[in-house]
Amino acid sequence: MQKTDKIFVKLGERSYPIIIGKDLFKDLQEIISKLGSFSRIIAISDSNVSKYYLKKIREGFTKHNTKYNEIVLPSGEKTKSFAILEVLLEKILGMKIDRKTLILCVGGGVIGDLVGLASSLLLRGLNFIQIPTSLLAQVDSSVGGKTAINSKHGKNLIGTFFQPLAVIISLETLKTLEKRQIIAGYAEILKYSFIMDKKFFFWLHKNGKKVISLDYKCCLEAIKNSCKIKSKIVKIDEKEKGIREILNFGHTFGHAIESFNNYSKKINHGESIFIGMVLALKFSVYLGICKLEVLQKLTNHLEELNIPYK
Ligand code: GLY
Repeated sequence: MQKTDKIFVKLGERSYPIIIGKDLFKDLQEIISKLGSFSRIIAISDSNVSKYYLKKIREGFTKHNTKYNEIVLPSGEKTKSFAILEVLLEKILGMKIDRKTLILCVGGGVIGDLVGLASSLLLRGLNFIQIPTSLLAQVDSSVGGKTAINSKHGKNLIGTFFQPLAVIISLETLKTLEKRQIIAGYAEILKYSFIMDKKFFFWLHKNGKKVISLDYKCCLEAIKNSCKIKSKIVKIDEKEKGIREILNFGHTFGHAIESFNNYSKKINHGESIFIGMVLALKFSVYLGICKLEVLQKLTNHLEELNIPYK
């Protein structure tokens, strides 16, 4: 089995590991068997991601005679809707599930958020594991238990807090992403450094280009640091009654931009967050609660990496 790094999200009896490594799909059955015994595994992915990983996952489980099903959903933000949630719930219920069924969410933030919500609703809560395949989902949405679909009133307004049994991050998934998606994930990484860890920000200032060009060691370091910061915050404030709000840095403006653009491909989540962070700092400078040099540090960094923020 491949060597892995582990970070723990400490939430009492709902604590779970974030397992990080490379080529973990072929070891998935073994990794999951150490987390519990399950009556059925249902892997859920989207039409973009499924072609890369479902075969390997299927082979691992069917070799061990595990009851195994797959569901493939359309890709894209519009999948996070009531209509698709209903289809998904009915499909899963048609698979003879019980309380020992395990759901695997294999995909980016859309699949993680939607399938996490479905898992929290079915039989009042089914075990689920997040297997995030985008950089953005690996450093943010797969960790911390927020599940959601969108409403016409705004993004992520319908959801639950429901923690996974584990998060499994296999770094080779990054190789199939477009540069635009990598940069989108970098928005959340940069966010962590800005809200919590000056040293990490200076490290990103030196190594950000390497993260974006997928240098393995730098990606591992950036993902581990991001997950550590997120778990620390979630441990203190799981249900976002206080400090967890800082994870939304840049997201108020960012979500408005996404919503205004009708969640179209014109601008993605990360791209909106870069602009959102700059706008939040500009507004804070205007209110006199943030120094201009802080805003300049962010914009200089974005300019060095050729990341648009206007
Ligand atoms: N993405 C922000 C949070 O998980 O709280």
